[in-house]
Amino acid sequence: MGASADATTPISLLFSVVDRPGVLEGVLARFRACDINLVSIESRPGKEGVYDFFVDLEPVAPNRIEQAVQMLRSHDAVTDVKTLTHEANTATTSVPWFPRKIRDLDTFAEKVLSYGEDLDADHPGFTDAAYRERRAHITENARRYRTGMPLPHVEYTPEEHKTWGMVWKELSQLYPTHACREYNYVLPLLVQNCHFGPDRVPQIADVSSFLRDCTGWTLRPVMGLLSSRDFLNAFAFRVFHSTQYIRHASSPLYTPEPDCCHELLGHIPLFADPDFADFSHEIGLASLGASDEEIERLATIYWFTVEFGLCKQGTEVRAYGAGLLSSFGELSYALSDKPQRVPFEPSKTAVTAYPITEYQPLYYVAESFHHMKEQVREYARTFQRPFAVRYNALSQNIEILDNRDVLLRYANGIRGDLMNLIAALGKTPHSDPADLLAAHRATATETTATGTAAATETEPTHRR
Ligand SMILES: [Fe+2]
Repeated sequence: MGASADATTPISLLFSVVDRPGVLEGVLARFRACDINLVSIESRPGKEGVYDFFVDLEPVAPNRIEQAVQMLRSHDAVTDVKTLTHEANTATTSVPWFPRKIRDLDTFAEKVLSYGEDLDADHPGFTDAAYRERRAHITENARRYRTGMPLPHVEYTPEEHKTWGMVWKELSQLYPTHACREYNYVLPLLVQNCHFGPDRVPQIADVSSFLRDCTGWTLRPVMGLLSSRDFLNAFAFRVFHSTQYIRHASSPLYTPEPDCCHELLGHIPLFADPDFADFSHEIGLASLGASDEEIERLATIYWFTVEFGLCKQGTEVRAYGAGLLSSFGELSYALSDKPQRVPFEPSKTAVTAYPITEYQPLYYVAESFHHMKEQVREYARTFQRPFAVRYNALSQNIEILDNRDVLLRYANGIRGDLMNLIAALGKTPHSDPADLLAAHRATATETTATGTAAATETEPTHRR
């Protein structure tokens, strides 16, 4: 799946309340006084004697939010009030809303900018009523999906399996010479574990389970195109939104929008690579609470990396972007002498214009996935968000690192991990600390290669 322009989102307040009898009732009364409806309210233990509250509000006029924030701040038991909203400048600590727990991704289910069953007049399946009905049926699975449910199983038809097989046959010829070594390492594992191959369309449930075991990434079904903000926010939870419908049988090597061939052959293999998985996660974390302009820049970085990235591999350049790995024509073109290739540099990449209906005239070449991750992490430090965040994989929550108690818990966790690491080193042969340092330096400067494979004869005309 890909990303696109933004959409409206809920409004939330975060604040801390000193625990004492009746205090919450007094706080909620201030919302009622401002004529604001609460959609949901959650509380969690904060520092000693304090509870942290997360309140989602119905969209209301900015002046009402500002009034409520001022009233909250004037309450002697309330501290650390933050506003998460798309209505900018309603408060000095205002940042755009972002999901804080993995269940919040459920709110994206119907917030698609275009639907899988909506086909343009030039789509190969536009006049095929049965095909349109089939896509509508599959996207309905995504509409109904909620966190915790089994991922939808699609009983693909013989014709759909045949279409997949034709795509597989064409692309798999190119992967050994065009795809990066990380891709070529993972693909056989997908054959062994997730039924990849020419005979049938793999199920995203099998793929999601495999990815979870490898890197902690999982899949969710999606009806169509999400906003850039929503799509990238999900990356912070190591979640990738995947379509399940397939391109029209009349044109197996062409699709104007993401389909399961693009997702499964273009995107999925590299999410099993630890460094690529972490790089993608960094983009997601950077997107949480980012301004609209920052989201646009991240989406552009996503475009030039996850979708159309090239990477050094020894003395060669290979492709790792999903838009290339699922596009027969552009894969060969990207590695030819026709386009321009320049080193990946986030601050420049983020503001580079690009076409979406033709081959890219310029590709960014990364040193390695590990290096990309460090570059994006450094770039994100320039963003305006007034606090740092981290993803707690155990609770599947986003933690806001904005007070001493939270930071102390974080530090204690790191200390525990560090002690465990030291104990493991003590039990491992050749565990001289100098070896560890050398390994770290080697990793930091390692260059990898990435290459791509392909899929479409005609170029996809969508943002993948
Ligand atoms: Fe994509």
